[in-house]
Parts: sequence; structure tokens; C-alpha cells
Amino acid sequence: MIILKSFREIELMRSAGRIVAEILEIVRSAIKPGVTTRMLDALAENEAIKRKSLPAFKGYSGYPYSLCCSLNQQVVHGMPTSRELVEGDILSLDFGVVYGNFYGDSAITVPVLPVSDVATRLVKVTEESLQKGIEAAVVGNRLSDISHAVQSHVEKHGFSVVREFVGHGIGKNLHESPQVPNFGEPGRGVKLKAGMVLAIEPMVNEKGHRVKILDDGWTAVTCDDGLSAHFEHTVAITDNGPEILTKL
Ligand code: MF3
Ligand code: CO
Repeated sequence: MIILKSFREIELMRSAGRIVAEILEIVRSAIKPGVTTRMLDALAENEAIKRKSLPAFKGYSGYPYSLCCSLNQQVVHGMPTSRELVEGDILSLDFGVVYGNFYGDSAITVPVLPVSDVATRLVKVTEESLQKGIEAAVVGNRLSDISHAVQSHVEKHGFSVVREFVGHGIGKNLHESPQVPNFGEPGRGVKLKAGMVLAIEPMVNEKGHRVKILDDGWTAVTCDDGLSAHFEHTVAITDNGPEILTKL
């Protein structure tokens, strides 16, 4: 069942989303060679508490950190470590909070400059594919129109879309119905309605789309050692078009 949100509820989700956006921006500015992802995790957690919100991921299904830090070949759910960032890395940061009973969820991939040409293109195409997905999140479209918009953009540029992880409805729960795949034929699935709030989150690989989970039970990495990037926004579908809630 898809839980539609009222105008008032979307207003609360806007507050949660803004906190996520502010904190991701703070963490992004802290990224430079020598910084560890453990430091970024601590920063994100402190900033959440300062804003009277709680990190959404810590303790979720037993995940032990506030931030997911997925480096280079890591796709999603990478855990913060004491490894220092170096020039040439690309780092995906996935962060969420709960505030006033509602969740916000967003991800960005940040290059530790300078990075290779292919890394630059991968990050750019992944962010653009999220934008294409958001543009398809309009009343009257069907769910898979979002998926198709993401996939076409990614494949047009020679990259591949991860299948094992998908976007999701979001609200009083981090994960609600429906699942939002980043691939598929257009015109399938439920009709999009005003009041739906979706976390749209393309995960894009440089080479093949296959991923595997490491022995830590969390970290997803590419099977062929290609790079991977991830962008995510929490988006409300309204009669006036898609509204990105996790934006400054
Ligand atoms: N943005 C991710 C998601 O939507 C974050 C989940 S990580 C977890 O699923 F640790 F909380 F599981
Ligand atoms: Co998500």
C-alpha cells in the first residue's frame, strides 16, 4: 500500500529533507585528501543531533554508522573506516535523518580532485540520470517512467544501472512502498499521484551492472572492479510537479 502524504505532512518532510541537505553539504565541504570516512561519519552525526534530528541509518537493520561511505568500486552501504581519502577517489555519501516523525534520505558522490576523466563522466551522468528520473515523477505518469528515464540516460552514455538495489517510498518509515527500480520498460506500474513521496536513487556502474556483497554483510561492490556512483533525492509528487525535499 502506498501511503499518500497530506500538504501538512509534506511540509514536515521538507524540514527533514532540508536537514539532510544541509548536513550533506557540510560533509561535502569537509572532503579533502587526508580526511577519513570515520571523521565524516562523526561530523554527520553531530550535525544531526545539533538540529534535533536523529541519524536514520544508525541501528537500522543493525547498520552501525550514521553515514554510508562507498568509495570507488563500492556501490552502496560502505562503512566508514580509518582509510584516508586520496586524490583520485570518488566517494558516495548516503545520509538520512528522522525529524518530527518523518524521514529524509539523500546521497551524493563527491570526487576528491583531481580524478580521472571516466570518474568525472560517471559522476556527472549519474547525477543527470537522477534529474531525468525526477523530471518523470509527475502526476499521470507511471512508476516505471521514472525507471526508464534513469536507465536510458545512463545507457546512452555507456554506463550500467545496478539492479539489486532500488529507490523507495519514504515517510514515517525509511522504506515504504513502492520500490523504485532504476531500469525497466516505460508505462508500467502504479500511476503516480499527488502526495506520493519517493526516494529516487540511481546507482550507476562504470562497467557491468553486477554487484556482490562483501563478508561484512553490508558493503556492495562491483563484480568487475569498475567504479560506481550514487545520487539520491527525496521527492514529493505534487500537482505542481516534482518537489525535491532534500535540496537547499
Ligand atoms: N539510502 C539507503 C536506502 O535508502 C540507506 C540505507 S542504509 C542502512 O536504503 F544502513 F540504513 F540500511
Ligand atoms: Co534511500
